[in-house]
Amino acid sequence: MKKVFVNGYGSIGSRITKFIKGDPDIDVVGIGKHSSNEKVQHVINDGFSVYVPEDKIDNFKNYDISGSIESVIDDCDLVIDASPGGNGFINKKNIYEPKGIKAIFQGGETIFNDNAVSDILFNSRVNYVEAFDKKYVMQGSCNVTGMGRILNPLKEKYADKLTRIDVTLVRRWADLEQTDKQIDDTIEMTENPHHGTDVKAFFGEDTPLFVRTIKVPTRQMHLHIMDIRFNANAPTSDEIHELFKNEFGIAILWTAKGTKDVRDFAESTKFNFKDTNMLHIHANMTMSIGDTVQLMYSDDQTGLVIPENYMLLQAMLFQRNYDDALKRTKKLFNMDEKKKLLEEHFSKKD
Ligand SMILES: NC(=O)c1ccc[n+]([C@@H]2O[C@H](COP(=O)([O-])OP(=O)(O)OC[C@H]3O[C@@H](n4cnc5c(N)ncnc54)[C@H](OP(=O)(O)O)[C@@H]3O)[C@@H](O)[C@H]2O)c1
Repeated sequence: MKKVFVNGYGSIGSRITKFIKGDPDIDVVGIGKHSSNEKVQHVINDGFSVYVPEDKIDNFKNYDISGSIESVIDDCDLVIDASPGGNGFINKKNIYEPKGIKAIFQGGETIFNDNAVSDILFNSRVNYVEAFDKKYVMQGSCNVTGMGRILNPLKEKYADKLTRIDVTLVRRWADLEQTDKQIDDTIEMTENPHHGTDVKAFFGEDTPLFVRTIKVPTRQMHLHIMDIRFNANAPTSDEIHELFKNEFGIAILWTAKGTKDVRDFAESTKFNFKDTNMLHIHANMTMSIGDTVQLMYSDDQTGLVIPENYMLLQAMLFQRNYDDALKRTKKLFNMDEKKKLLEEHFSKKD
């Protein structure tokens, strides 16, 4: 059994923890909490031991904590860092590196410049095996993971025919749980978004990918609007849907009017955290026009990267072969059942 410590219990950390505790080969030894607030008791009530930074232990006198982060890490095999963007790098320098512990980092970090947490950006469909021997690996953000999941099958099938891919990322303002975060009535433009550069980290710098990003006032998923250009007539919409039919973590929906429809269905069907854990191609919006395919898919924000973290964990801790890891991931997250329910509910009506 491998011992895993999860540092941070927010949107990402709480989800990862609740899923991986269902894996009999993993022992979740504890959770890192940094602020002394009522959420400490939530973690304990969820059945986990809480560890806090050594220099903050006195702030947690009112809670039944189990010790310091620095000490528990001596006794585990891997840390999943789920801290707010940028803190992962600081944790690596101050704790993980000095203690020689393996770590997974999240999409708010970077693999570029002096603050790089890793020399690899993970996307299970592209570079699963490369993570086997790594001590530190960064999981791509939900948008980066989503684009990778769509682009890889396209690249495999149409490698020499693809000439250019333009993506407009429409990002959600806040997560479902971030009820204290105000949603401003504006469409915000993002200068120099990291997403295209991150995707090119696993697809190669010469990938003809151009990404622009806006943020809109919703908590209900991201939407990617993608124009895929070919050097001759583009494939038909049916051919594109066929390409993604059996891809892991992609559902093909025909009748969702918007992202909230999908979220509401996930809630009504009691999916954990209301997450679908996948991408949803909005097939009614696919158009093949001349040399271009127009594709739209929604991306389940937080939920998308949780199965990816589990794939990464399996690569780094067990070096499981890809098919075995994928099979276990599908089972743990009930992916086939979720996909079936979604595709049936939003099926094409004649
Ligand atoms: N949310 C998403 O949809 C999403 C999707 C993909 C990737 N990501 C990435 O995942 C990471 C975590 O995001 P999140 O949305 O889960 O953030 P979040 O909800 O704000 O949670 C962050 C957690 O980290 C804890 N924390 C604070 N300082 C810390 C430190 N120095 N070391 C370790 N933990 C610390 C906080 O605990 P206290 O309350 O105790 O301070 C909080 O529970 C970021 O890199 C983000 O970019 C997020």
